[in-house]
Amino acid sequence: MLCLGNICRSPLAEGLLKSKLPGGFEVASAGTSGLHQGQGADTRMIETAKAQGVDLSSHRAQQLNYEHFSYYDRIYCMDKSNRHNALELAKTPQDKEKVVMLLPNGGEVPDPYFGGQEGFEQVYSLLDNYLETLAQTLIDQKH
Ligand code: 4NP
Repeated sequence: MLCLGNICRSPLAEGLLKSKLPGGFEVASAGTSGLHQGQGADTRMIETAKAQGVDLSSHRAQQLNYEHFSYYDRIYCMDKSNRHNALELAKTPQDKEKVVMLLPNGGEVPDPYFGGQEGFEQVYSLLDNYLETLAQTLIDQKH
């Protein structure tokens, strides 16, 4: 799960997807920027998730690096700018194929960082809904 800072959107996406998948899947998150490397998730995101029973307290931000391309099968981008930056790091056609948008039909998960609480709640519902679909798709693909 990839966003810009790895403190708002992608930590929540990671936590939600993990909660919807059985064992046998590995889910992680990263940011294209290293600005918040080592920091916990944004307090507003932690609180929004906690209210719904999702614990993000152990999250530590990391920056996307080239090793992630060999380790993970897919890199799900929250927005087009994340995809652009991930593609700049990709080297091979196989790397590039791994970079996909999380939402279908060009949809983007809006960056809530500079806005108010309602933005965090909006991101929560959007991700909670869509990751339910993605979890089912991943489970079906494995069978
Ligand atoms: P995220 O949100 O990409 O969802 O983690 C942001 C976090 C930090 C910044 C921007 C977006 N920032 O500019 O520091």
